[in-house]
Amino acid sequence: MKIAVAFHFRHSAGDLYEFLLLRAFHLAVRFLKTDLFIVSGVFCAHPEDALFLESVTKSRAHRKVTVPFYCVNDAASPFSVSDSSSVEIEGGGVKMTVAELLKAIHGAGGGFPEFDKSPFEFITVEIEDGRIFNRRIHRVSLPDEVIGRLTDFHIHTNLAYCSENMTVPDALRMAKLTGLKAINFSEHSGQLYFRSEDYWKFQWTMNGRNTPGGCPEQKRMPDYEALFRRYSGLTGFTHGFELDVDRNCTIALDDKDRHQGRVNLGAVHSLDHKEDLPLLKREFLARTEALLRYGVPILAHPFRIFRWGCGMRAPEDLFLPVVLLLKKYGAAAEINFHGNEPYPEFLELCIREGVKISLGSDSHNLYEVGFFHPHLALLRELGVYDRLDSVLFRMRG
Ligand SMILES: [Fe+2]
Repeated sequence: MKIAVAFHFRHSAGDLYEFLLLRAFHLAVRFLKTDLFIVSGVFCAHPEDALFLESVTKSRAHRKVTVPFYCVNDAASPFSVSDSSSVEIEGGGVKMTVAELLKAIHGAGGGFPEFDKSPFEFITVEIEDGRIFNRRIHRVSLPDEVIGRLTDFHIHTNLAYCSENMTVPDALRMAKLTGLKAINFSEHSGQLYFRSEDYWKFQWTMNGRNTPGGCPEQKRMPDYEALFRRYSGLTGFTHGFELDVDRNCTIALDDKDRHQGRVNLGAVHSLDHKEDLPLLKREFLARTEALLRYGVPILAHPFRIFRWGCGMRAPEDLFLPVVLLLKKYGAAAEINFHGNEPYPEFLELCIREGVKISLGSDSHNLYEVGFFHPHLALLRELGVYDRLDSVLFRMRG
């Protein structure tokens, strides 16, 4: 049994620490493979501080995570959350309450780092035959050596139909808390032209825009521009689009909405020919090339469409052709873990061919902004962690 413990969680409504805790939870569950997560010493000075649990509950439900999340209040806390001290845990050769388990982990030595200050550390331990071992400290902030050096190029806004809680100012505050250099907002262009139900049913990619039987327009682009006018006094960000492409290889961006100097991502979000693999592959390459020819500097979540849209692993014989297209058009390949598993073999080819790598969280929830732990672990595996400057995509100028 593997357990994560975040200790001394002191949260004041508005400090966004609940999203750091949520990141610790997702890091522990998805990437460190823990069986349960305990946040202990929870201290809330005001009733609204205790509402942090809602953000966690919503995200666990949204991601369908069943791994338990247990809270243990600080005895001195004036306001408490639902307490799990007396919940019974069974596994790893032990049967005890959460409170007894915490005591046992404490007794095993090493102490607990405190979660309420940078770099927001928590621990994991393993328990086998009642023995507690393999205590490790993890941090939510980025590693010291990359603080202030990385840009998250793939952040959604409140205008995304799939946004969970994004806002421009909060995303910027999360970037600061995380230790990012900058962020780039890149909204789905198709979502700025079409209604939610049409977008999700691929009405436009299938049938075109404003044609008989096609997809009617919903003009949300002015809202997007107004959003950034409203926050023009803030710094540390750029904005562009995550451009959609239809079955005719038309890019969802009107000329009047195309602005110089914006960092746009391109993404294949739909494919038609699911029953005919050779045709499917040709279709994928055609849409990918259309985006690159259009001039996107970053290809977002390359190949994700095969898993999401076709329920299959990406055909490996597409890796090299895509690398060569990226090279031809001078674009970067994104590492993206948002409901996605990147293909290391593809990234290895990119690096070998000198294709740059872009880091994108694809944030739809504030906890994701700058959540690059898996990205950095992958870059380490690929053997390029000590030369990130020469491998990572960066904005010109
Ligand atoms: Fe996308």
